Amino acid sequence: MALVPALPKRFHGPSVWALYALGLIPAAWAFYLGATGRLPGNAVKEFEHLLGLWALRFLVATLTITPLRDLFGLNWLRYRRALGLLAFYYVLMHFTAYMVLDQMLRIPAIVADIARRPFITIGMAALVMLIPLALTSNNWSIRKLGQRWNKLHRLAYVIAAAGALHFAMAVKVVGPEQMLYIVLVTLLLAWRAVRTPFLRWKRQRTAGARSHTATQKAAG
Ligand code: HEM
Repeated sequence: MALVPALPKRFHGPSVWALYALGLIPAAWAFYLGATGRLPGNAVKEFEHLLGLWALRFLVATLTITPLRDLFGLNWLRYRRALGLLAFYYVLMHFTAYMVLDQMLRIPAIVADIARRPFITIGMAALVMLIPLALTSNNWSIRKLGQRWNKLHRLAYVIAAAGALHFAMAVKVVGPEQMLYIVLVTLLLAWRAVRTPFLRWKRQRTAGARSHTATQKAAG
């Protein structure tokens, strides 16, 4: 039995658009709080922090879609593109906040920061890797690239790992929040590693059960 009742087909499209709209609310809220002076402490840092955190949440959510289907039969594949693109938009906003509000567009300082501070180098690498994924997140690219599309989009795992590492390295003391993302990304990577043998085993088990039922029917 399905874990969650299936959504009628006519709601599939609108639900994806609703996800985009809902997904952008944290950014709008953070912007509103920042603009009205209600962000606690160092407002610029807090704004950057919130955007980065949501980027990481959407990255993890994107990678959770496949295990949810494999393990619980939840087919939420239709939301994966929106989640991935939301992650990209949040990383872009995080990067823009860093360049404009934090560094005041001082390009030499930004370049030096990216080159000299390892956690920023890792963040930047994640952003660069996200660009081809965002550009190919459309039906035309999926058709055109075929199997290569799947290979390219496996980069999402590297990006999420880089994001979690960047988060852990950005703070002085690694606390439960940073650990949570490291554990989540590790679990997702581990799932990726055991997925193929698991699916093979599941198929064999289903085929075995089917042939057993057919034999019983034929005998009875
Ligand atoms: C996948 C990409 C990225 C993710 C998921 C991400 C996520 C995060 C998170 C969650 C934080 C919060 C750390 C904290 O203050 O508690 C953070 C901080 C930071 N990120 Fe990123 N980030 C990404 C890319 C980038 C890029 C491209 C840059 C700039 C080149 C950048 C620059 C920074 C800086 C400077 C901070 C520290 C802010 C501070 O001093 O508090 N990040 N990031």
